[in-house]
Amino acid sequence: MTSQFEGKVALVTGAGSGLGEAIAMKLAHEGATVIVADVSGKQDAVAAALGSPAVARTLDVSSQQSVLELETWITETYGGLDVLANNAGIGGPQALTHEYPIEAFDAVMAVNVRGAYMVLQAGLRLMLASGGGAVVNTASIGGFRATPYSSGYITSKGASVMMTRTAALEYAQQGIRVNAVAPGVTRTPILDGSDPDVLHMLESQVPQGRLGEPSDVANVVAFLADDALAPHITGQIWAIDGGRSAG
Ligand SMILES: NC(=O)c1ccc[n+]([C@@H]2O[C@H](COP(=O)([O-])OP(=O)(O)OC[C@H]3O[C@@H](n4cnc5c(N)ncnc54)[C@H](O)[C@@H]3O)[C@@H](O)[C@H]2O)c1
Repeated sequence: MTSQFEGKVALVTGAGSGLGEAIAMKLAHEGATVIVADVSGKQDAVAAALGSPAVARTLDVSSQQSVLELETWITETYGGLDVLANNAGIGGPQALTHEYPIEAFDAVMAVNVRGAYMVLQAGLRLMLASGGGAVVNTASIGGFRATPYSSGYITSKGASVMMTRTAALEYAQQGIRVNAVAPGVTRTPILDGSDPDVLHMLESQVPQGRLGEPSDVANVVAFLADDALAPHITGQIWAIDGGRSAG
């Protein structure tokens, strides 16, 4: 039996840590050639752990030059792209909206909105060259369910939801599906430094009684990226939150 992503090229951004690392591992285990892209330097160890044909690339999604350089490299190396996990993101500070530092708002937007948008654009151009593909953006349940003290981040994830839906409509006829995962609170390094009492409180709010694990998200990304399993799914936002957003 061939693996589901045999012969497919997948780009995973923010792949040096957390959800991106888990997504890269899942897609590689299912046979994809994974481009492990991150700005942190941690992409090298992730790609080394996966082994050939996984390859590490430095990518700063907030830099247009960096995104375009990676796009050119993918074109020259593979001729196109089959799967994009558009996952890199940052959290931002905790503050009421009227006190939220505008510099922090700009920084969150530069990565989570402008950066994700530039990566989406590059991915779509590469997939048009390939004759189709699947994009999975990493949004958040914060993209459709507000929480206080994180207005910059929440606003950015609302944008992620709508860039997903818009691109799905625009490229449905070109064989490109565009979906998003919307994780609830998931155990990754983005939570480092969080107050354990707050995490316990968040956990108690999840109907299933536990926070998410990176594999919970990676499995759904692989499903949505798989043209055999999800050929008629596009423009959808998949909550992976143990039921948190259901009520
Ligand atoms: N963990 C959660 O609870 C949760 C919930 C909902 C959504 N998300 C989203 O999931 C995605 C991954 O987050 P995570 O929890 O794995 O966090 P993480 O901090 O563990 O990983 C994020 C990765 O993105 C990379 N990154 C940051 N800025 C970048 C840039 N400019 N260019 C390239 N890479 C960059 C970081 O270096 C890091 O490796 C983010 O978009 C985040 O908003 C996370």
